Amino acid sequence: MPYVFRSRKPLMRTGIAVSIAVLALVAGTAAGAPNARRAVNPSITSKAWGSAHGQPVRLYTLESGHGMTVRITNYGGVVQSIYVPGRGGHVANVALGFSKLSDYVNDFENQPWPASGGSGDTYFGAIIGRYANRIANGEFTLNGTTYHLPQNNGPNTLHGGPLSYNTKVWTATPQSGKGFVALKLTYTDPDGYNGFPGAVANTVVYKLTPDNALRIHYTATTTKPTVVNFTNHTYFNLAGEGSGNVFAQTLQINSNTFTPVNANLIPTGFEPVAGTPFDFRRAKPIGRDIRRANMREGDQLVIAHGYDHNWVIKGHSLRLAAVAEDPASGRVLRTYSTEPGLQVYTGNFLVGDLVGTSGRTYRQGDAFTLETQHYPDSPHHIGEPGWPSVVLNPGQTFNSTTIFKFGVA
Ligand code: GAL
Repeated sequence: MPYVFRSRKPLMRTGIAVSIAVLALVAGTAAGAPNARRAVNPSITSKAWGSAHGQPVRLYTLESGHGMTVRITNYGGVVQSIYVPGRGGHVANVALGFSKLSDYVNDFENQPWPASGGSGDTYFGAIIGRYANRIANGEFTLNGTTYHLPQNNGPNTLHGGPLSYNTKVWTATPQSGKGFVALKLTYTDPDGYNGFPGAVANTVVYKLTPDNALRIHYTATTTKPTVVNFTNHTYFNLAGEGSGNVFAQTLQINSNTFTPVNANLIPTGFEPVAGTPFDFRRAKPIGRDIRRANMREGDQLVIAHGYDHNWVIKGHSLRLAAVAEDPASGRVLRTYSTEPGLQVYTGNFLVGDLVGTSGRTYRQGDAFTLETQHYPDSPHHIGEPGWPSVVLNPGQTFNSTTIFKFGVA
């Protein structure tokens, strides 16, 4: 263990924290399966986790001190696991992932890009940029110039194009302060990479607090006018990764409106959720309407093989976007965000040889994502009413916060 940061540094000097760390190790908390019993100060530790592109990669363990343990690697900024307690203090890993770095590299970098439909890789837990979600036809026009991007998802550019943020080794700096620990990650996306104009300097801070909240703060600046959209691509299963599908878990979304899509999963406009399977204004099981016929544009749940849509979140600034709950374990996830949209994706393309962290195979429907972001394909709606801007200009700083806060019902 090369270093341990705890939020109350004076304790470190007295050696009491060292004793606590030793006790935690003896109990197996720091090294293996976390448990919910002890309440101590948040901590962050790390270990070597192999290398990618010739650069060393580390795996960081953030503990809330109140039963929540998050592991994050600086490869792609991937949230590798999230252990949280449920009813009776039963801890489960609620984030899909892999046990080894090579599995991430293989999934993120060695999959064939499909000619149409889904994507060849999972993006498990990763930071997505510079443009999360789809840009239709692999091009956009900004200030009169048309930029051509690689098409890695049928005709679309998905998640920044091939080999984007999720495959980079980010510079990582552990941080700690009063009542929190954090991992600061930085990466600069070069001017012209995957066809986008301007070098974009990104900072993503993952912060864990004693209330079992994982706070993600994104900032970005650019050297030329460009388009940006960032998200985190964690797949949640509140019953535990690898435990089966999430259809009995409930979801409530703070939204009256969603963006239906065409056959390429590009939004065609806005529709009220009322009377459709997209109505999550009151909590309902994710699977309740997932096979229900709908919509004149074409059956949305057939096109997307399940939910893979953007909801327009009511309100502005940091507010509650969604609440998910596993009635069986009592685990609850509240998502807060400053972002205008939420892409909910029910793992429709989880197919093939996907053996997860605990050795079980993931299949379609085994998770849901809560991708807080600007609306898909916004670069084709610059300046249109109802479409929050995704343009970032030199001199501006992009700022965005999303909080995943866990509790027990
Ligand atoms: C989601 C996207 C899905 C799929 C997935 C990655 O964000 O909406 O269609 O591409 O990422 O497999």
